[in-house]
Amino acid sequence: MPGIWIMAALLLGVAGAAIGFWLARRRQRSLESLRSRLVAVTQSSRQTGDNIAHDLRTPLTRLHADVETTLRNEDSEAHRATLERVLTEIQGMQSIISALLTLGQAEAGGMPVKKMAVNLSLLLEEILELYGPSAEERQLRLQGRIALQIMVEADRQLLARIFSNLLDNALKYVPADGLVVLSATAKGGEVVVTVEDDGPGIPAEMRDRIFERFTRLDPSRTPSGGAGLGLSLVKAFAKLLQGDVRAEASRLGGAAFIVTLPAAAAGVPRPVP
Ligand SMILES: Nc1ncnc2c1ncn2[C@@H]1O[C@H](COP(=O)(O)OP(=O)(O)OP(=O)(O)O)[C@@H](O)[C@H]1O
Ligand SMILES: [Mg+2]
Repeated sequence: MPGIWIMAALLLGVAGAAIGFWLARRRQRSLESLRSRLVAVTQSSRQTGDNIAHDLRTPLTRLHADVETTLRNEDSEAHRATLERVLTEIQGMQSIISALLTLGQAEAGGMPVKKMAVNLSLLLEEILELYGPSAEERQLRLQGRIALQIMVEADRQLLARIFSNLLDNALKYVPADGLVVLSATAKGGEVVVTVEDDGPGIPAEMRDRIFERFTRLDPSRTPSGGAGLGLSLVKAFAKLLQGDVRAEASRLGGAAFIVTLPAAAAGVPRPVP
């Protein structure tokens, strides 16, 4: 009989040691994962800092040279032209700073979200109408395939900013004679809005990274190009509305940006006639 007790005590001891070992391994693994996440966050904020410095240094250097040259010039016309260029550069820098501040606020959850019932179908039609003239100017065909009566519970202004950013991009990156299609459907409690085109598209390996701050496909940071903040804002706004956005290859041959949002309880959409 005592043999059984000794065996039981031994088994308990072994089981206890195994559980202790397993718990220690688990704690070590979660510490390692926390550490690697911290390293990633530190690296990403350092990268963001470098990018901000780069994006502001270039226009500041240009301004410096421009103002210095103009000061040596007596011509008042030249002074005026320089002041106009200075104003444009300052506006560019202001928009980078304000986009970064908005992004920080949205990601930290500090941005006020005014949720209300929004007829998304109507809003998207309005946005399409607004972008019609710019598309025409750039010789692009802009088409809408929007189901009727799609209702969402969301902030109207944030929705408008999401789709304006995506259309801005399509109009900017699709060459003349191209096609841009904005489509929207609602299925099983989810609303799906797609902005797609037949332009150059996004390479598969960049489709996640493209949403990070300052990521641009064209590495030559031309002054006329964007800051690389638009898609980060789209992602942050979509998340604020309990939705998301992802990039894929479009059936049209270019990029497809797919925004998903929760549908409002009311409002049964009808298909496009
Ligand atoms: N429809 C598209 N087709 C091809 N490339 C695109 C498209 N939309 C975005 N991109 C690529 O993704 C990059 C990031 O887009 P994002 O909107 O974040 O920044 P941006 O347009 O460069 O500048 P910003 O929006 O801040 O003015 C762009 O620079 C471009 O290279
Ligand atoms: Mg953009």
